[in-house]
Amino acid sequence: MNDFSNFGWKFIKGFKDEYKTGDIRDGELVDIPHAPVEVPVSYFDEKDYQGIFTYAKEFKIDRIKDNEVAILTFEAIMVKARVYVNGVDYGEHVSGWVPLSLEIQKDLKEGENNIVVVVDSKEDENIPPFGGSIDYLTFAGIYRPVHLEVIPKTYFKNAYIHADSKGKIKISQEIVNPTKRDSINYQIFDGEKLVKSTKDAEFGIEKPHLWDTNDPHLYRLIIELNSENGHYEKEIKFGFRDVKFTEHGFFLNGQKLKLLGLNRHQNYPYVGPSLPKSAQEDDANIIKFDFGCNVVRTSHYPQSEDFLNRCDEIGLLVLDEIPGWQFVSKKASWRNNYYFFLREMILKERNHPSVISYGTRIDESDDDHDLYSKGYEIAHTLDPYRQTLGVRNYKTSECIEDIYAFNDFSGNSIYHGLDDPKSVKGGKGKPKLVTENNGHMFSTKYFDHADRRKENALRHLRVINDAYKYDDICGELGWCAFDYNTHKAFGSNDHICHHGVANIFRNPKESAYAFASQRDDKIVMEVINPPYVGDYSENLLHPLIVLTNCDYVELFKNGEFVKRFYPNKKDWLNLPHAPIYIDDFIGERFNEPQIKENIRGKIKDLLNIAATRGMASFTIKDYIKYGPAFLKSKMSMPEMGFLMGKYFSGQGLDVPNIWQVKGFKNDKEVTWKEFAPATKFHYAYKVSNNVLENKETYDVARVAISFLDEYENEAHYSQNVINFETAGPIEVIGPKQIAIIGDTSVYVRSKETKSPQKATLKIKTSLGVDTIEFGVK
Ligand code: GAL
Repeated sequence: MNDFSNFGWKFIKGFKDEYKTGDIRDGELVDIPHAPVEVPVSYFDEKDYQGIFTYAKEFKIDRIKDNEVAILTFEAIMVKARVYVNGVDYGEHVSGWVPLSLEIQKDLKEGENNIVVVVDSKEDENIPPFGGSIDYLTFAGIYRPVHLEVIPKTYFKNAYIHADSKGKIKISQEIVNPTKRDSINYQIFDGEKLVKSTKDAEFGIEKPHLWDTNDPHLYRLIIELNSENGHYEKEIKFGFRDVKFTEHGFFLNGQKLKLLGLNRHQNYPYVGPSLPKSAQEDDANIIKFDFGCNVVRTSHYPQSEDFLNRCDEIGLLVLDEIPGWQFVSKKASWRNNYYFFLREMILKERNHPSVISYGTRIDESDDDHDLYSKGYEIAHTLDPYRQTLGVRNYKTSECIEDIYAFNDFSGNSIYHGLDDPKSVKGGKGKPKLVTENNGHMFSTKYFDHADRRKENALRHLRVINDAYKYDDICGELGWCAFDYNTHKAFGSNDHICHHGVANIFRNPKESAYAFASQRDDKIVMEVINPPYVGDYSENLLHPLIVLTNCDYVELFKNGEFVKRFYPNKKDWLNLPHAPIYIDDFIGERFNEPQIKENIRGKIKDLLNIAATRGMASFTIKDYIKYGPAFLKSKMSMPEMGFLMGKYFSGQGLDVPNIWQVKGFKNDKEVTWKEFAPATKFHYAYKVSNNVLENKETYDVARVAISFLDEYENEAHYSQNVINFETAGPIEVIGPKQIAIIGDTSVYVRSKETKSPQKATLKIKTSLGVDTIEFGVK
């Protein structure tokens, strides 16, 4: 038996000598992944989680035979860990973002054993990214799962399969403790069908089903090793595909593809990165299926295998990256840790078809010829097939890497998204990629003013427009997917960088639709500045901007057709789907027989201008153009005010004031939205998964909570208090009572159970109690 698991670890802050043997009487029981310190969502001190923490696990195991080894693997511990096995010191190791594996059989005994892990999460200037300042946090803990495997003494590690679009396969692995009678066999499966079984490490298969972003088809490789010490096998999922960054763009399987995506920090509310598989998968799903991106950058460190596996499964391309942030140290220890991280990152990630390049240069760092030359060599030795990427925030620098990536923060919404790549002088003749933009240049809170949220979306859209305009640019990745916690020197003094296209709870901001509206696989239509006139200066009804992939939209007022509007290709020439501007709110329904026919057109325009730009904006030109018609109409100011109410605001009239926008594709109505003064409100919930499965560890679900009006629009500025209560084997992560503005989400985790059970989350609000049911297996 081997009852080692991620459940039921003893945990205590600090370390005392007697803990070495697992003697931790006052410890609390926790499950891995674990955050030693739960922080508030915002406003805390990054020193709060930096310290020493001790974890201990007692478990039973059968006698380990002479021809077996026991391998203990921590997928990640932040940042260093000293491990004791039954009191024997296994030394201190750096992990951070890469696995820590130890062979521990010599100190295990039949029956009861214990493992003690002393985590040191202090920022250490000998380890990247530390030494300078950093715009992200490195939360403490054993924050990814841990495994203990007992396997034959002769086993293999670092297996690597490369498979291309022609069906050519090349496999390698390193045999540990080889014997004279080792034999390796490779089996390739397509689903359950055996496609090939061979002893050759290089071979081909006919007409492979390719892996790509729309059809991420995965095969399975099973490597079997038979030796004098027994049989050992391992399965690796892989895909057949060709990836090439060129001077003229990015190609997947020979097809040009504009990379369009976002950067991701592995930062969830309260617990930093300490959430298991489902949460990691949920993030990949959001980026691909909600935001419609085809690429993500794991800024700025290697991320969880669960995240990457999901990217493989759903066809989300990945640019991964070495830990770092702007700073490069001259210290040998720091540089050795850079090489260590680089090696470990590539060994961990090179089988993922989704990973298209390695970011080998510390994000936005200065040139360092020696460091990066050696880094280049390490990367290409471990993986001769993938091009490396170097991200900088300036246009001239030495480019040792294969791809010159630059963070272009030059954008604004109206005129300019990206600089002409010709102005980038570094990396002559090399592929160009924009790895960041926007971010701190236009930090936008989820609960910011509507104008700012709109502007934020337009800035992202302008960058996308320019990424298409400059055909040779491989693509662009916006900064960033989700708001994240940061060091005190950054953010809004609240320890949050509000740079995400979604908040830290994963609720999308308007800017998410800049990306989502460019897709073709799903209808998207979002009005990023709803017509709540009181929300804007001067009570104006600004032209509505609709981010959509519809062919056109039609505007209706109280059910009456106003006008049809088409994408604004004039201002947004290069986008696959230009936004649609609704700038005429009277349209075809102008019916004022008292106004003479020859001046009706001018009066209608005059009313539209007054409603959308305001009277105060009238220029001499406007007076010259519309003045005579206005005088001829003999309209009094109150009469004009009445028409404004009738056609725009509804003020002074006892009728509903419902604006309806309908989206059409191929002349069929495919979606609609309506906006009107609201009086009735309700909560709505979206649950990422209702069945929580305890497997290697606990499971989580995200419940997105929206406060909506009767037209199903978010009551964006609502302020509510919510209480959570659970029954059954689940728990809420974070506080059980929260105050929110607008939408939020809550993460719920399962507890260990012996048999399947039902559980409920009760959400108590001023409107009553809602119950969400879960099954826990
Ligand atoms: C970049 C940096 C990112 C983040 C971003 C904020 O310079 O690479 O990590 O700090 O700025 O906009």
